Amino acid sequence: MTQTTMQTALITGASSGIGLTFAEQLAEQHTNLVLVARSEDKLQALAQRLAQNHGIKTWVLPYDLTETDAGAQVAKTVDEWGLTIDLLVNNAGFGEYGSFSDRPRERHLNMVQLNIAALVDLTYQFLPRMRAKRSGAIVNVSSIAGFQPMPYLATYAASKAFVLSFSEALWAEVQDDNVRVVALCPGPTETSFFEEANFPDSMGDSMKSSLADPEEIVRDALKAIESNTPTVVSGGFLNQVIVNISRFLPRPVLVSAVEKQFRPPSSST
Ligand SMILES: NC(=O)c1ccc[n+]([C@@H]2O[C@H](COP(=O)([O-])OP(=O)(O)OC[C@H]3O[C@@H](n4cnc5c(N)ncnc54)[C@H](OP(=O)(O)O)[C@@H]3O)[C@@H](O)[C@H]2O)c1
Repeated sequence: MTQTTMQTALITGASSGIGLTFAEQLAEQHTNLVLVARSEDKLQALAQRLAQNHGIKTWVLPYDLTETDAGAQVAKTVDEWGLTIDLLVNNAGFGEYGSFSDRPRERHLNMVQLNIAALVDLTYQFLPRMRAKRSGAIVNVSSIAGFQPMPYLATYAASKAFVLSFSEALWAEVQDDNVRVVALCPGPTETSFFEEANFPDSMGDSMKSSLADPEEIVRDALKAIESNTPTVVSGGFLNQVIVNISRFLPRPVLVSAVEKQFRPPSSST
């Protein structure tokens, strides 16, 4: 896929962090943008800024993707606007730190709905159109958290394992259709993610020393589309080490080590 064929991208979670950075970098490449998230004011401001600075077309679609049928509704609106989506970036997602049973049920269920169900539905809506025209790409944002179970981030890590497995499987399925699928797996990155996930300050602080720049993450993702690479671990060499260690350790050893590393500061067991 070359930039000359890339016309319109739809980005979920475009109001901040990695999604916003996707919007900025794609706008620099003169890609028109459909921006999806809940914060309409932020999306409008971003859309206006990018349209002015780069001469692109932008569309704002304020939507809560935890709503049932979200993917189908987004696709319906895109159809009503008469748009063809050449690049789908399934980026919207959140985590929730803490002991599984101590965190609100709604947070777990909404996380599954957003991180998994909406991503599957949006992929289901747009992949067949890309296959039919024999061009297009999908970036699904997973995480290095998807490479091993993570106590105290159990639902989040499992959701990202789903995204990783799902995306790699689709990558292989669509090789003959000239469509590309990338599982983007960042390590800790400088965004609102840690605040949203209710990480305790002490734990957030220790990670802050090694946070990656979202610019680097998005550059890696766009390169992976070009090179048709199914999985990209991004955000520094340490992240490559982490995902590779998890391949060789026995799973009980691995998960016990992660439990110790992520145990809430006040917990003594
Ligand atoms: N930052 C990291 O360390 C890291 C590492 C690995 C993977 N990731 C993944 O990267 C992706 C982007 O996260 P980020 O780090 O950029 O965090 P972020 O700055 O908190 O961005 C999350 C985005 O998702 C949107 N969103 C949240 N709930 C939504 C909903 N119900 N409906 C529609 N949009 C919703 C938010 O917009 P609104 O609030 O306006 O809806 C926001 O634009 C996530 O999938 C995350 O799991 C992050």
